[in-house]
Amino acid sequence: MKILVTGYKGQLGYDVVNEAHARQIEAVGVDIDEMDITNAQQVHDVITAGAYDAVVHCAAWTAVDKAEDMVDVVRKVNAEGTKNIVEVCRQLDIPVMYFSTDYVFNGQGTIPWKEYDHREPLNVYGQTKYEGELAVESYPKHFIIRISWVFGKNGNNFIKTMLRLGKERGAVSVVNDQIGMVTYTYDLARLVVDMIQTQAYGTYHATNSGDFISWYDFACEIFKQAGMDVKVTPVDSSAFPVKAVRPKNSRMNQSELDDHGFERLPHWKDALARYLDELKG
Ligand SMILES: NC(=O)c1ccc[n+]([C@@H]2O[C@H](COP(=O)([O-])OP(=O)(O)OC[C@H]3O[C@@H](n4cnc5c(N)ncnc54)[C@H](OP(=O)(O)O)[C@@H]3O)[C@@H](O)[C@H]2O)c1
Repeated sequence: MKILVTGYKGQLGYDVVNEAHARQIEAVGVDIDEMDITNAQQVHDVITAGAYDAVVHCAAWTAVDKAEDMVDVVRKVNAEGTKNIVEVCRQLDIPVMYFSTDYVFNGQGTIPWKEYDHREPLNVYGQTKYEGELAVESYPKHFIIRISWVFGKNGNNFIKTMLRLGKERGAVSVVNDQIGMVTYTYDLARLVVDMIQTQAYGTYHATNSGDFISWYDFACEIFKQAGMDVKVTPVDSSAFPVKAVRPKNSRMNQSELDDHGFERLPHWKDALARYLDELKG
């Protein structure tokens, strides 16, 4: 099998390429320099030339707050860029895998979102990722995997920010009214490589396992595992005014994974421990 991985300089794409190589699966990673997904002709030429069996599409505009002022640019990448990829996969009759987000939901209530629940994004990033989902759904040979609160070796994320702030200040305030779950790209990459070799098309939620947490809970565990003495104060989202509204309820039900016989990702505390080791290495 030969797969094309977009966004390979990002957190997830990097780990997917590595995981595929570790299993002797041919994987070619491209990023904006090799294939700008907003350029339909380039997307066509790169995918067609490679004789790929599937495309794992990790590239995206992921700067959530910046997105609020740049709707056209963000839509071009997340919605139209995804559409460009889907159209070539359709022509070649090969599967496409797309990654989406808890931000497609409106964040109300406390019940975990099911995979086919009503989508109603609250911010520009979520809206454009939703439009990307619609493009992908128009082609039957698709996988959509929704993830949340992502961390990986190759990029900036909440853990790196906490470690830096904890070191610089010795005290941090962290929101405790957004509830969800983290996703370690190393763990997700293993599922991605399993799934792309099947025909179990559809929409999945795939985060690490365990009881749902807040960012405050996550920060406390980060400092505990890192052996850092940092004072963590829980605060309301209103204490941190940001441009893009975040959903309060990001809990995601993962029953489609179970129903299709895929193993859930490991517990988030275990993932964090392995990630902190990975950062040292
Ligand atoms: N990060 C999260 O917390 C999160 C949560 C839920 C879902 N997701 C989704 O999960 C997937 C992977 O996320 P990630 O955190 O790995 O993202 P990431 O680290 O931001 O990586 C995305 C990559 O896509 C590249 N890219 C941007 N515009 C492009 C274009 N026009 N053509 C080609 N490549 C382009 C980026 O390049 P530049 O860096 O140069 O822009 C970057 O290398 C994305 O679909 C994202 O929407 C992420």
